[in-house]
Amino acid sequence: ARGASLTDFADKVGVDAAQLVQMLFHLGEMVTATESVNEAVLDLLGEELNYVVQVVSPEDEDRELLSSFDLEFGEDEGDDSDLSVRPPVVTVMGHVDHGKTRLLDALRSANVGDKEAGGITQHIGAYQVTTDVDGTDRRITFIDTPGHEAFTSMRARGAQATDIAILVVAADDGVMPQTVEALNHAKAAGVPIVVAVNKIDKESADPTKVRGQLSEYGLVPEEYGGDAMFVDVSAKSELNLDKLLEAVVLTADASLDLRANSEQDAQGLVIEAHLDRGRGPVATVLVQRGTLRVGDSIVAGPAYGRVRAMLDEHGENITEADPSRPAMVLGLTATPGAGQTFLVVDDDRMARQIAEKREARERAAMQAKRRVRRTLEDFMAS
Ligand code: GTP
Ligand code: MG
Repeated sequence: ARGASLTDFADKVGVDAAQLVQMLFHLGEMVTATESVNEAVLDLLGEELNYVVQVVSPEDEDRELLSSFDLEFGEDEGDDSDLSVRPPVVTVMGHVDHGKTRLLDALRSANVGDKEAGGITQHIGAYQVTTDVDGTDRRITFIDTPGHEAFTSMRARGAQATDIAILVVAADDGVMPQTVEALNHAKAAGVPIVVAVNKIDKESADPTKVRGQLSEYGLVPEEYGGDAMFVDVSAKSELNLDKLLEAVVLTADASLDLRANSEQDAQGLVIEAHLDRGRGPVATVLVQRGTLRVGDSIVAGPAYGRVRAMLDEHGENITEADPSRPAMVLGLTATPGAGQTFLVVDDDRMARQIAEKREARERAAMQAKRRVRRTLEDFMAS
């Protein structure tokens, strides 16, 4: 709660910050909505709202919960010799209509075999492609959820899935507000950017202008002496897609040391999840470390279960998933939220215990929020 403002507090509890300001005013405290408040003010609010102000963050609390089971998310992966190279995980970002979806589709279908008859591509929220770079097959994982939700919602939860951002800029439109927004998100996350200057098939395309515009935002193309790779592409005409993939690999090699221990118990993130009528809860997860296997007991947010089956982006059964690989997991008891973490644990019992504790905590937090809202309403009415 350090540095928290009334706005932060109000957001957390789902009330109006202005009402909190008003309430405090009645209690003799002059506080604005955005200034950070001290603990005394939080205590006063807590007392008045019949709410125990939590000084512990939910993240800390969860860390404690896991550690009571001798678990840690993001635990040390061991020595250099235990680590092997893992593929980069890429998110595509950019202004509305600049071609993110079309580019993701083109990259996916440009990949081996996807166009074959019968090879139905499943939308699982992430996929992997293989590309040849200097005679070596290199894999890249794309997170395929709409917009940059994956990126932002996961970051908001403190989890980072993305290693590299592809910034899509339509060459006819040039840099637009959400281009800059995306750029800032990636910068804030410390994620290197590869620029895909898209729609170069168009008459009105001006890729040079895009380079000039982005240079002004500090994203200077290599050919201008900067360190960002720009690739002119057309998602529509499937032009230069291989060059774009190569740029991603080269950027990963040049500025990131992407390695993971594939021997340990798997840990990673939930990319998306839904309830399938026939199959029950279905979650697409991204393995970040370790290897996930059919039969593993896992806990994912407040959901748990044993991995009954795993499918890849082609809808084919796989028995294991190594670091950076996305997989659709069947066998959970409930649908976890996007951005929540998953961990392999010793057995089903442990998975259930952790999940139940998380659920109880979520329920208690919800009840507390409801109570605060009710008290505040009463206060306002009096
Ligand atoms: P939002 O998801 O709404 O933000 O848009 P988006 O960035 O996903 O754009 P989308 O892929 O839906 O493309 C927007 C429009 O541009 C569609 O009509 C695409 O067919 C078209 N488009 C995308 N890429 C190209 C391209 O390389 N050339 C041309 N000519 N059109 C393209
Ligand atoms: Mg789209």
